[in-house]
Amino acid sequence: MNTEYSFSHRHILGMEQFSRDDIAHILTTAESFKEISARSIKKVPVLRGRTIVNLFFEASTRTRLSFEVAAKRMSADTFNINASTSSTVKGETLIDTARNISAMHPDVIILRHFSSGASQLMSQYVQAAVINAGDGAHQHPSQSLLDLMTVQERKGRLDGLKIAIIGDITHSRVARSNIQGFRTMGSEVHVFGPSTLVPLHIESLGAVRAPTLRDALDNADVVMALRIQRERLHDPLLPSLREYAQRFGLSHETLGWAKEDAIVMHPGPVNRGVEMSPEIADSPRSVILDQVSNGVAVRMALLYLVGNA
Ligand code: CP
Repeated sequence: MNTEYSFSHRHILGMEQFSRDDIAHILTTAESFKEISARSIKKVPVLRGRTIVNLFFEASTRTRLSFEVAAKRMSADTFNINASTSSTVKGETLIDTARNISAMHPDVIILRHFSSGASQLMSQYVQAAVINAGDGAHQHPSQSLLDLMTVQERKGRLDGLKIAIIGDITHSRVARSNIQGFRTMGSEVHVFGPSTLVPLHIESLGAVRAPTLRDALDNADVVMALRIQRERLHDPLLPSLREYAQRFGLSHETLGWAKEDAIVMHPGPVNRGVEMSPEIADSPRSVILDQVSNGVAVRMALLYLVGNA
């Protein structure tokens, strides 16, 4: 890394904003925070006195909880706002919500929203740093960073790897962020899914469109399955989940095409028996729970870095 390097990102909006040095720095910072979660007293005073608001307009288990756990482990004060109990249900706009939250002087706002670009918009109306916790089908940068951290731990590097991403690419902010993240670090990303669920111009993001599942998985180092996002499927883009599982689901047989030491990832929540068989989800190849653990470390790093940018 450049010895003159310093992290200079006020907001975390998408993976396209990061250079290779940025990603390496975030992952090194996350590694240094990871051991705090293994202590008996899991708290350091790094963000004491800082105020962090979790503003979630969509359901979340992993992202919301891990940002809150991360903030609390660094002694910040955290506040959670659910869309269903916020004044947006009375018609308040996102911009007015942003301005009103900003008037209470938080230091960081973590936003999950169903609209692509919502975090970018909010960042223009608040003094606080904004972290995108998933915006529509656009970006989920903290997920990509925890995925990169998990691959680096398991493979010892992030360059020269073949990453296969299988499933609903069209509706996946995780796919978009990971294509950019892994490409920036020097790996190839091959995508495959039902033709109705792979964007026409996916190559423009730097991904390789695999013609078959076997092509995608052949010699892969990392196999990432994505959830079929039924809540975003307004048209019948799939015949049935049973047929999806037969044609696109990961099994011991299909994983035989990947490298012997290939790891299996999934951002969660997993639809067992659809994206992958339960045996695969629970197999030694699966690093799904490592991803979740690393999510806390990566989010500690992001909160620390935006607080000091
Ligand atoms: N991976 C992920 O974003 O999970 P949640 O929706 O539970 O936050």
